[in-house]
Amino acid sequence: MHISRSLVFLSLCMSSVQSAIWQGWSKGRSAGVPPGNTALDDWVEKQEAISLKVILSNINPPGTRRGFFAASLSTSDPDYFYTWTRDAAKVAGVLVHAYDTSRRTDLHDVLIDYVEFQIGTQQTTTLCQCLGEPKFNPDGTGFSGEWGRPQNDGPAVRASTFLLLSQALSQKKYVTNILRPAVYRDLDYIVDNWATPSFDLWEEVLGVHFYTLMVMRRALLQGVAFSRSYEDAIHAANYQGTIGSIEERLESFWSPSRNYILATQDRVRGYEKPSGLDIAIILAANQLSGSIGGSSSSIKDGFFTPDSDKVLATAAALEYSFGTIYPLNQDLPSHLGIAIGRYPEDVYDGHRSSQGNPWFITTSAFTELYYNIILAFKARPTDITVNHINRPFFVKFDSQAVPGKIYVKASDEYNLLLADIAASADRFLATVKYHEQANGSLSEQFNRWTGFQQGARDLTWSHAALISATRARAGRPLA
Ligand SMILES: *[C@@H]1O[C@H](CO)[C@@H](O)[C@H](O)[C@H]1NC(C)=O
Repeated sequence: MHISRSLVFLSLCMSSVQSAIWQGWSKGRSAGVPPGNTALDDWVEKQEAISLKVILSNINPPGTRRGFFAASLSTSDPDYFYTWTRDAAKVAGVLVHAYDTSRRTDLHDVLIDYVEFQIGTQQTTTLCQCLGEPKFNPDGTGFSGEWGRPQNDGPAVRASTFLLLSQALSQKKYVTNILRPAVYRDLDYIVDNWATPSFDLWEEVLGVHFYTLMVMRRALLQGVAFSRSYEDAIHAANYQGTIGSIEERLESFWSPSRNYILATQDRVRGYEKPSGLDIAIILAANQLSGSIGGSSSSIKDGFFTPDSDKVLATAAALEYSFGTIYPLNQDLPSHLGIAIGRYPEDVYDGHRSSQGNPWFITTSAFTELYYNIILAFKARPTDITVNHINRPFFVKFDSQAVPGKIYVKASDEYNLLLADIAASADRFLATVKYHEQANGSLSEQFNRWTGFQQGARDLTWSHAALISATRARAGRPLA
């Protein structure tokens, strides 16, 4: 919040909100005072620990089946007390990373429970009668109400997480006997269904989505390496062939006239979004930063990776769009970054339809993207060259960034560019910090006018996204 806006707001509202504002101020969060990286470093360390704690407290709460990952503990307005295959897989991915780096045995057991619960959902009867059933009850049975189904990114993200876990575990028998059949089920489902319309990750649009195809491609890339490790040439060839078809389709989402990647094709049902812009593109790119599939197989091949020209262009378009539509983003103090939402036309306010808001997941995703971009540039042997496609990204840091301009690797100008990108990444994180609750709680959204939290409290994915971003900041992005 900008101070003048807070003051206006302060005079309008109730005491509970007032106390929240005062808490913010007493912690020295007043506008215009750059916190400096040390302050942010301290916060990051504390917040990572809080977020991990919240994630664990949202897993297997009393009365639920072991391995149940609640999307949030909120049971009414909104009721998020379910497990979504997508959310759970993303959260479990963060836990695999934490387990892999800390070897905490409690995380090991949580992950084994996760696998068991998920295998149960693969086999239980659902309305979808397919692996794209999006959400499950706390006892592991399929949700039986009306819903947008199938959602085919779910099995893909789950297969990716299972495959990451297979690398982190030392029990190879478990991997072979338990994980392998589960992974093949999901991957074979992708091979059969990748081109069929399904609901997007926001559960609103039935169509073919860039995001969904990207997570499928990643899972299949991991799957190729995995099946080769079993000398299983048949699965490997099958997955490799599908990757080729998916890649060809993915290329067609680029819009040369708009200079960004469009979210959806073949819309059958759901919102018509005239802009075609969606943060899902950034989430899709962010999963291509770590070194998944082991050291032998890299997904950092430039194919819609964070540093690729088309992703850079799309990021610039999204930032510009959210910068203009949210009142909160007007007259931002210099230490804050633009609050980012899901897509410009969004009307879901966390409870019902009115006006969409910025989210924590999506604002954190920008921090993650920017740090991933830096890591990718550093890993390149070459200079950075501005062209007609990526120019909107570079021009934010350098008004002289015209097509043809070259940042010579390791030159002062190059280093300055990377430092500017890092400072910008930290500003998005400062925005998350500014709008979180004083005790580190992160809901789903924060209000587009006031900045106060809104929607499901302590959304598990919000905390996972925060950790994902801070890991990239630490130079250890999630695989
Ligand atoms: C923060 O405080 C709220 C109550 O105001 C509580 O519901 C929430 O669980 C707390 N979060 C954390 C991370 O302690």
